[in-house]
Amino acid sequence: MVRFRAVRVKALAKINLSLRVLHRRPDGYHELRTVFQTISLADEISLRFRAQARTTVCDESSLRLEGNLAVRAAQAVLEALGVCGEVRLNLRKRIPMGAGLGGGSSDAAAVLMALPFLLRRELPRETLAGLAAGLGSDVPYFLLGGTALGLSRGEELYPLPQLPSCYGLLLTPPIHVSTATAYQALCRDLELMSAQEYSLRSWGLSKQATLEQWAPFCTNDFEPAIFARHPELGHLHEKMRRAGAVIARMTGSGSAIYGLFASREAARQAARRFRETPHFLFRTINKPQYDRIWAKSFHA
Ligand code: C5P
Repeated sequence: MVRFRAVRVKALAKINLSLRVLHRRPDGYHELRTVFQTISLADEISLRFRAQARTTVCDESSLRLEGNLAVRAAQAVLEALGVCGEVRLNLRKRIPMGAGLGGGSSDAAAVLMALPFLLRRELPRETLAGLAAGLGSDVPYFLLGGTALGLSRGEELYPLPQLPSCYGLLLTPPIHVSTATAYQALCRDLELMSAQEYSLRSWGLSKQATLEQWAPFCTNDFEPAIFARHPELGHLHEKMRRAGAVIARMTGSGSAIYGLFASREAARQAARRFRETPHFLFRTINKPQYDRIWAKSFHA
């Protein structure tokens, strides 16, 4: 009998430090300007593979995830490599879904990176990026990690000078926001902002700025529409600000609210004010740390 090969990897979550949504494009997607940041909250995925005459991919965690992106990622990798076999995935979900933390996208990117490793084959970076973009707008970011600029529909990425390591508090109330519905709810005036203008601003900030200097740049265009629909999120955002967060924002199209603090102790103290709301303490993960986490998984 052919034995399984196995690997266990972490799929980390992201927050958007800044998220500007511009016009709706002819392909139906919106033009974005965003700064992504990896955080320490993570899912855990075990992947097993054995060569078989026919390809089957099953998610043993039976989470019944809607349009399971991790399963689709595994199918895409096998197809791209022209390999047939049995893949078994087991997802230990810690990143809440429908929260704007990119959990499903990160799981998918983790499978895109881990499965070729398991097969002892390599996929060129451009092929991986193409597969990632086909799975979802946020998936390519997780091939990169750290502090990164996202343009176009979010899949055009540039690493930025990394945000200094800092601590944060994440509120994850049980509200599921559908990304597509959030975009539809925007109905805002078209705003002209060139990619160059945004890129220069974020590049300049990340080179030398403190959290305080970042704060005015950190806006999220989804907040007004989402807070109008879910006033409790607006209240949590305000409470986070009053709890001393240097930057307090909603991430992605919601519903999670994060706060970044001057110290770990300040984040811990703030957490005491949110006993009734599901929450996590986290730290930001820069690009070298992200790469080390991946290297460690493969080494193990
Ligand atoms: O790419 P993804 O599958 O994550 O997008 C989900 C939905 O969110 C899209 O079908 C689209 O309606 C909306 N979207 C958008 N503009 C983007 C990203 C997503 O309008 N840049």
